[in-house]
Amino acid sequence: MDCPQPLANALKQDTRLPQLRQLLDDDACQHIYIVGGAVRDAITTGQLPADLDMVTTAGNAMALAQTLAKQLNSTLVPLHEELGMVRVVWHSHVKDEPPTYIDLSDAVGNSISEDLVRRDLSINAMAVSLNGEQFFDPYDGLSDLTTGVIRGISKTNFVEDPLRLLRVFRFAATTDATNIHPDTLAWVAELNHTLWNVAAERIQTEWLKLLSASNTYPWLCAMGQCGLLEALIPELTATKAIPPNSHHHLDLWHHTLELVKQLEATVLPSTAPEWQQHLTQPFAPGITKKGVLTFGCLMHDIGKPATHEILETGRHAFHGHDKVGDEMTIAICKRLKTGNTIAKQVAFLVRWHLYPCAFTPQSAQKSLLRFYRRMGDLTPDVLLLAMADRLSTRGPDITDAMVSEQLDQFNWLLTQYPAMREKEQVPPLLSGTDIMQLLNLPQGRHIGDCLKQVREKQLLGELTTADDAKQWLQQHVSPTV
Ligand code: CTP
Repeated sequence: MDCPQPLANALKQDTRLPQLRQLLDDDACQHIYIVGGAVRDAITTGQLPADLDMVTTAGNAMALAQTLAKQLNSTLVPLHEELGMVRVVWHSHVKDEPPTYIDLSDAVGNSISEDLVRRDLSINAMAVSLNGEQFFDPYDGLSDLTTGVIRGISKTNFVEDPLRLLRVFRFAATTDATNIHPDTLAWVAELNHTLWNVAAERIQTEWLKLLSASNTYPWLCAMGQCGLLEALIPELTATKAIPPNSHHHLDLWHHTLELVKQLEATVLPSTAPEWQQHLTQPFAPGITKKGVLTFGCLMHDIGKPATHEILETGRHAFHGHDKVGDEMTIAICKRLKTGNTIAKQVAFLVRWHLYPCAFTPQSAQKSLLRFYRRMGDLTPDVLLLAMADRLSTRGPDITDAMVSEQLDQFNWLLTQYPAMREKEQVPPLLSGTDIMQLLNLPQGRHIGDCLKQVREKQLLGELTTADDAKQWLQQHVSPTV
């Protein structure tokens, strides 16, 4: 089969392949194929990615990897000894250029067609020989990639590795697909309960990669329809029982998804490039702040079912749902083994998603300052979530004027943030040691409290010099003898 043009170009332009071919003898080269994501990405971007997945049909993956590691003076990391899977970490001579990870394994059954039939999706089951002469695409991956179809290879492959159930939606989102083949959706619906048979770490990576894509809404809805979203996070099921009310035109399940839609379709495209850029900050390859924000959107009202009450007036109340949601989010992230940094950020978004509603441009400087200081680096994330929440909460008691007034407020808070962040760069007037000496107090929490108060007054412009600060402390805090 002819190699598609973008792939042929990518192979021709890549400077690493001739070096590899030179290091290996002709016979070895003839049995090596580039497979999976590297082929898919080269077709879509016209460039081979930094990391290369390769298989050999000669059954000598380990020996080849040892040769490469020795010749390239690089590190060898065994990944899966039984499957003959090994990684060569090839450091570039060019300064600051990232290393190439070559993941080399023995082709299943020492045959390229047997190997491809065991893979997850048609778009990930293409291969090209190392010399670029032979292209294999037994499941029409090229056509699916071009037309935006996500198609599983077989149900058996999903049974074999249930992580693939989630990968269906991850690749739908990250390749900007337009639809998932109906048979594939049916397999997901049938097998959704098996997802947790795989390690949490693997689930977590696919989940966060999915959420980091720019258009996740249709795929989260599709996951919902197949029962995979509830299989992944069973706490979401209870949101289906929370009906619409005077503030919400949708039940809680649909409100939650609507919020993601509003974030992706309305809020993010219209926000300043600075905040769009902010959300591209990576946590890991393919996982960004956007992913964490989208996770926060999905979790923002997770505490509502447990706190739901209907008051005598008929109003629906959810007192403390932000705090309950914070705790539930931590537990969910723990189960997913996201690590503390991500867990804390998602939970923070849940805990504070209502906080921006408390402000107007007339709010006291002191309370505004406290808002920015408490929200810190997550200020834009909290505000963007609050905007999407505002846009997806349109019950009969909510007028257009209320929505636009509140969006204006959130936008105003966002535009003020850079100046606030700038102010924080000014060094503090006093250090903890200064305060301990001044008040003759030992180290402890009270010193932290003093520091915080002085800093707040400094940022509000009420204290401008170290002497002012010392005087204020002496007047307001009683020293010990
Ligand atoms: N694969 C699979 N089933 C899995 C994981 C991987 O069939 N559960 C196969 C696919 O052919 C995939 C290849 O192994 O293309 C490499 O997997 P991986 O590195 O996880 O994904 P990539 O396709 O390389 O995509 P990305 O780099 O975005 O993770």
